[in-house]
Amino acid sequence: MKNIVILISGGGSNMAAIVRAAEHERWAARFDARVAAVISNKADAAGLALARERGIATAVVPHRDFANREDFDRALAAAVDAHAPALVVLAGFMRILTPGFVGRYAGRLINIHPSLLPAFPGLNTHQRAIDAGCKVAGLTVHQVTAELDHGPILAQAVVPVFADDTATSLAERVLVHEHRVYPAAIAAWLGETK
Ligand code: GRF
Repeated sequence: MKNIVILISGGGSNMAAIVRAAEHERWAARFDARVAAVISNKADAAGLALARERGIATAVVPHRDFANREDFDRALAAAVDAHAPALVVLAGFMRILTPGFVGRYAGRLINIHPSLLPAFPGLNTHQRAIDAGCKVAGLTVHQVTAELDHGPILAQAVVPVFADDTATSLAERVLVHEHRVYPAAIAAWLGETK
């Protein structure tokens, strides 16, 4: 069985979309894969309750408990490795990971970023796209490498930017597509690594 471990920091709507797709699209039967665990750096991440309701194992590794990134990442890796992951999925996980952590999961660590990379890595992507006068925005699913919001692109989707958009309205429009594209990219990855 290929275990998928999902890391979240907040609402976890992408995580929920992945869990739903795994059920509806029968990833267990088709890919011998399942969402084995959801891990958060924040104890109050709303997504944790949803994962528990679905019977998925959860864990919290609070980053504030650790003096530096290296120590946090070591503890995080131990929590992740407890589920022997075939794939580690960052879904709104708002911590920068050390090269040590990234290297440990090379080729099996992916992220979703709410912009058309390589445009707008980092935070506040929607406001920055509006400020730049972009007519389109979007999202990118990519393999994680040591450089933040870089790495080989697995999937992208484009959405229009409207003249009256705010960062909030644009984020909502992009998120709808994140929920479609992230599960599809994971299913494609699982199909290719049979
Ligand atoms: C998404 O827009 C994701 O691309 C970004 O943070 C947001 C997380 O949303 N990195 P959720 O926690 O999946 O609801």
